[in-house]
Amino acid sequence: MSQIKIFDTTLRDGEQSPGCSMNLKEKIEVAKCLERLKVDVIEAGFAISSPGDFESVQTIARTVKSCSVASLARANTKDIDCAWEAVKDAADPRIHVFIATSPLHMEYKLKMSPEAVLEKAAAMVAYAKKYCPNVEFSAEDATRSDVDFLVQVVDAAIRNGATVINLPDTVGYTTPDEMRALIATVIERVPGSDKVEFSVHCHNDLGMATANSLAGVLGGARQIECTINGLGERAGNTSLEEVVMAMHTRPDLFGEHTTGIETTQIYRASKTVYNIIGQTAPINKPIVGRNAFLHEAGIHQHGVLSNKKTYEILTPESVGVRVNNIVLGKHSGKHAFEARLKELGYELSADELLRCFEEFKVLCDKKKDVTDADLEALVTHSATEDAETTDGYKLDWFAVHTSNFTTATSTVCLKLGDEKFEDVCLGDGPIDAAFQAIDRIVKPVEHTFELYRINSISQGKDTLGEVSVKLTAENRTFSGRGLSTDIIEASILAYISAVNKLRAYTARKNKEE
Ligand code: KIV
Ligand code: ZN
Repeated sequence: MSQIKIFDTTLRDGEQSPGCSMNLKEKIEVAKCLERLKVDVIEAGFAISSPGDFESVQTIARTVKSCSVASLARANTKDIDCAWEAVKDAADPRIHVFIATSPLHMEYKLKMSPEAVLEKAAAMVAYAKKYCPNVEFSAEDATRSDVDFLVQVVDAAIRNGATVINLPDTVGYTTPDEMRALIATVIERVPGSDKVEFSVHCHNDLGMATANSLAGVLGGARQIECTINGLGERAGNTSLEEVVMAMHTRPDLFGEHTTGIETTQIYRASKTVYNIIGQTAPINKPIVGRNAFLHEAGIHQHGVLSNKKTYEILTPESVGVRVNNIVLGKHSGKHAFEARLKELGYELSADELLRCFEEFKVLCDKKKDVTDADLEALVTHSATEDAETTDGYKLDWFAVHTSNFTTATSTVCLKLGDEKFEDVCLGDGPIDAAFQAIDRIVKPVEHTFELYRINSISQGKDTLGEVSVKLTAENRTFSGRGLSTDIIEASILAYISAVNKLRAYTARKNKEE
């Protein structure tokens, strides 16, 4: 049996896509999820792209102990120096060097001849190898490259010390048959292939990323590059949850290949990442969407009641989704609370447990029954909230006056350290008025209000409302989340969280300049 390595690039390919930017603490929260999932490699970022990226790659490299940590680098000495500086303290550092090999990219993007690209690839792999034993080489746009040329480049990379060869489908153009054949052909034609691991990295522009990655494995790849929830450039990357569960569900096809992923952590990781970027899973998303394990149609329900396997090819429990919803309430003690969280797959530190238990007690005063969905929302919010700027503005109190025949008014009082700031605004509804009052207090730089979304966590009129807000400024997204049984409070909390991030980013940029 051979183990297929899972190389997770949520923090690089995922994070660089529009609407998915994360701050340092949020990236660390994702890295912790990836460790719990037991991925083999975390691509923590593209160290040279900004001082912030460098800092997050370095911090993750120094924090993560149980898997390899990689930084991306273009094929030039400056990028490689920076990538090494960022990952060198990792338990198992990796430098990931890439250069494009397709005619289109070489002519129009790199403005280099194929000969020059070949020479550069060889020289820069050798340069990275001087620093690091673990060097991955990617031939960007491999699936639109000339196979004879690709064979030459891969051969040169291996001769100069690459340990992993990645053949990306950069623009999501290929098909499963083509991907399988490409990997098999390159392995067969390059003499040193047996000494390295081959890898696939597929984008999802035509909806075939998962199928193409699995076909790559059948062609001989031993590493799959993927992301939580399939985040990534344009239509995204291969979903970690899909490739992993496909291999686990079809041992008849992939029996000799398996992954080391702790599948019961999939749902938690997915929720955390969606929370951080202020999104929720599309309801029909495979594995992690709300409907993935629901059986609505009568004929399906009947079948499932007789034998679950009639319509269920994998169990919700296998990916960490709990279906027997045990309800806790105000009389539940800390032990019952902790035990339920453990059953849901959440092992919290003493501090985290105390904080969440206090929030749980507050919630019990507002809501009679606290369901598993409420608990999950509470814990993931608490973790990601903690991962946001802790030194920003906090809500002290708010008051709104609204009706369908007067203009809404909101008064908001925020705390910054020991100081309090209060403002009042009229608005087009209480939420608009509250956001304007917050703007008057915080005075964030000019930005666009991109998204406001409200989502109910469970059933019942007293459900928790989860509000996501997204702001954009300078081509970056700043997302915020708020959770409360009161949707105005949830909205205010979400907006403060986003504005705090924008404020922290501006302060940091001003300092760097
Ligand atoms: O899609 C791609 O080709 C990439 C490479 C940098 C690996 O992300
Ligand atoms: Zn990519």
